[in-house]
Amino acid sequence: MNRITEMLGIKYPIIQGAMQDVAKAGLVAAVSNAGGLGVLASGQDTPEQVREEIRKVKELTDKPFAVNLMFLNKKVPEIVDVVIEEGVKIVTTGAGTPKLYMPKLKEAGIKVMPVIPNVKIAKKMENLGVDAVIAEGMESGGHIGTMTSQTLWPQVVDAVNIPVIAAGGIADNRGVKAAMAMGAEGVQCGTIFSISKESPVGDNWKKVIIESKDTSIGVIGTKMGVASRTVVNKKAKELYELEDEMTDKLKFNQLLDEAYQKAVYQDDVEDGIIFAGSVAGMIHESKSAAEIIADLMR
Ligand SMILES: Cc1cc2nc3c(=O)[nH]c(=O)nc-3n(C[C@H](O)[C@H](O)[C@H](O)COP(=O)(O)O)c2cc1C
Repeated sequence: MNRITEMLGIKYPIIQGAMQDVAKAGLVAAVSNAGGLGVLASGQDTPEQVREEIRKVKELTDKPFAVNLMFLNKKVPEIVDVVIEEGVKIVTTGAGTPKLYMPKLKEAGIKVMPVIPNVKIAKKMENLGVDAVIAEGMESGGHIGTMTSQTLWPQVVDAVNIPVIAAGGIADNRGVKAAMAMGAEGVQCGTIFSISKESPVGDNWKKVIIESKDTSIGVIGTKMGVASRTVVNKKAKELYELEDEMTDKLKFNQLLDEAYQKAVYQDDVEDGIIFAGSVAGMIHESKSAAEIIADLMR
């Protein structure tokens, strides 16, 4: 038992990271049923889609789960209302500050845990009254900051009094031990759960991650201000080249998003973008969420 397991009412301090279009009801419920915290991604979904997915999770588990609010989604105000109406008790947040929604969320008794990339934002969040911070290092899959996990986690632990959840680069028990040794009270993993048995991604995507080596993963979008860690494939190379020609950040982000959807929904692993962290080279098979949690906790 530590502050995270106690506060969230979960058995193990293992949180499955939000993953747009991937962290859907089936995966979320499997993680929560196995004693971790499943996190439903709301990404660019409509409020009604989020409501439907929350209801599916509730049909599949009676254990605690969270919903991730992504502030680039213009429908966040309505999604916050849905989260409250549906009785969700935990939210994680990304791509912005939860400041505007804190009074509403706190009044509804919801625990708020933002993902943060550095000490300054961690402190800002603590002052806002959030319940924990998720310190994510740049080893992680998807959009990234500039600090590495090994340097970020202890500096955040030293800077705030609320519990710290470590994210970015954890895929086995050694990573969990390292995070705990640096003072984290929980861990959040994305890449390892992205190819779990319960993940909706296709067989091609899973095969690419399983066959990845340490150097198969790279970063694109840095020059456009949307640095993202992905598998280095045909599309990633194309987008990387485009960065020299493009000036429109929104347009680049749209191309990135479309390519990501292509990988998720069409399992196109050449013309699609696969978000994945540097841990991909350590992942050698697709396991169930319960097996992954058992491995992490071993
Ligand atoms: C396929 C994929 C999609 C992701 N999408 C999101 C997202 O929509 N929102 C978010 O906050 N984080 C997203 N992330 C980050 C994860 O929630 C998590 O914090 C991160 O993967 C942890 O690092 P790891 O990949 O080394 O385990 C994504 C990660 C992956 C691998």
